[in-house]
Amino acid sequence: MKQFSVVIAGGGSTFTPGIVMMLLDNLERFPIRTLKFYDNDGARQEVIGEACKILLRERAPQIEFCYTTDPQIAFSDVDFVMAHIRVGKYPMRELDEKIPLKYGVVGQETCGPGGIAYGMRSIGGVLELVDYMERYSPDAWMLNYSNPAAIVAEATRRLCPNARILNICDMPIGIEGRMAQILGLESRKEMEVSYYGLNHFGWWRAIRDHQGNDLMPRLRAHVAEHGYIPMTEAAHHEASWCETFGKARDIYALDPETLPNTYLKYYLFPDEVVEHSDPHYTRANEVIDGREKQVFGQCRQIIERGSAQDAELEVDEHASYIVDLARAIALNTKERMLLIVPNKGAIHNFDPDAMVEIPCLVGSGGPEPLQIGDIPNFQKGMMGQQVAVEKLVVDAWIEGSYQKLWQAVSLSKTVPSATVAKCIVDELQQVNRDYWPELN
Ligand code: NAD
Ligand code: G6P
Ligand code: MN
Repeated sequence: MKQFSVVIAGGGSTFTPGIVMMLLDNLERFPIRTLKFYDNDGARQEVIGEACKILLRERAPQIEFCYTTDPQIAFSDVDFVMAHIRVGKYPMRELDEKIPLKYGVVGQETCGPGGIAYGMRSIGGVLELVDYMERYSPDAWMLNYSNPAAIVAEATRRLCPNARILNICDMPIGIEGRMAQILGLESRKEMEVSYYGLNHFGWWRAIRDHQGNDLMPRLRAHVAEHGYIPMTEAAHHEASWCETFGKARDIYALDPETLPNTYLKYYLFPDEVVEHSDPHYTRANEVIDGREKQVFGQCRQIIERGSAQDAELEVDEHASYIVDLARAIALNTKERMLLIVPNKGAIHNFDPDAMVEIPCLVGSGGPEPLQIGDIPNFQKGMMGQQVAVEKLVVDAWIEGSYQKLWQAVSLSKTVPSATVAKCIVDELQQVNRDYWPELN
């Protein structure tokens, strides 16, 4: 089989070691000849890069490895760019979450004003990666899971419509893993799903096994009682995520015909979410004190010991969807996957120019979206409002328009009034001046 060359953009990410472990676990399905890390923060990436160098030397010495901040070295001679950058890193995520909360509004990485602020930072960063890829490896594909994926995807649809970029999210995959557990299946791959919506904003409307048996009735009964918490859930799962998976029960109650993405809680129950938030300690703080400390701590230990033999780095098993996607492109597998793609009539009664998250068959020519047909009014109404928000953010970025950004925040279902929206935009603009385009 062909051996592939891969660059991970955002090499300093907390997810990088888990993804490297996952790639090592999948070498038989997806052989790698060269692996490179690219990041624009050399010091942050060095810790992860040095640790992974040791790990790779011990476990896969045949793979040529380097890490760099030089785009030419990083993006030359690659088949795939796996992109997970966070423009502004955790300190900016913290502000995205805390500033809206000051005004009693949801403070979240990808939803509401926080997601909008993050979008205004991310668009430029991801477009820069696309430019590097097109300049140095024009035949490569970018598998992008940098957030906020919905806004980034709309920006790339508009500004580089012919780029070989695939936008994907792991949230449906994570929830489907839970569904499989609830049903007592070995793997989510035993289910064939029909899902539609936007990124972090969608619904399952059918779930069958490969024999065509309807699995929805059993899932509905469980979700109505427990949300997406399987009876066998390990007790140690992070509390904030547990709450989110449990809350799916209340979202589900609004439409018993479908099963919801957990992110809908921010749009449907913003008041309760705010009530349960600590404005002085948000998810960013949990991640800084948790995942970031742990991953960087382990990497530093590997470097000190000069060996990764006893390292506790875990395989990010559920990230194997990235290998599924790379294989689908490289080997024309026609695997059915949920991707964020231009609607173009797939959802019949919805804006053809919206970026929607729907099942696609993925082959060497890219994704072929499957037909969804008509969707119900409740979902269509919510999606229409949210798509307008996402489009306005991209307008604001392209035109440098304060007005459009204020409209976007005012229109978000998470924000109660245009006055509050203005206060939040003004404060976010202040702290984002090094990252956002100038707004007039
Ligand atoms: P992180 O801050 O640990 O890592 C991000 C890295 O990106 C940092 O090392 C940073 O220096 C680097 N970076 C920032 N701007 C850059 C630029 N312009 N060019 C190159 N590198 C740049 O963050 P994390 O928590 O590990 O998350 C990384 C990203 O992955 C985030 O966007 C997060 O939202 C996303 N994510 C997406 C999914 C999904 O399913 N779509 C799942 C998990 C994480
Ligand atoms: C899910 C979403 C991602 C998001 C992540 C946040 O996996 O699909 O888009 O980035 O959650 O996780 P965190 O642990 O950083 O809050
Ligand atoms: Mn996601």
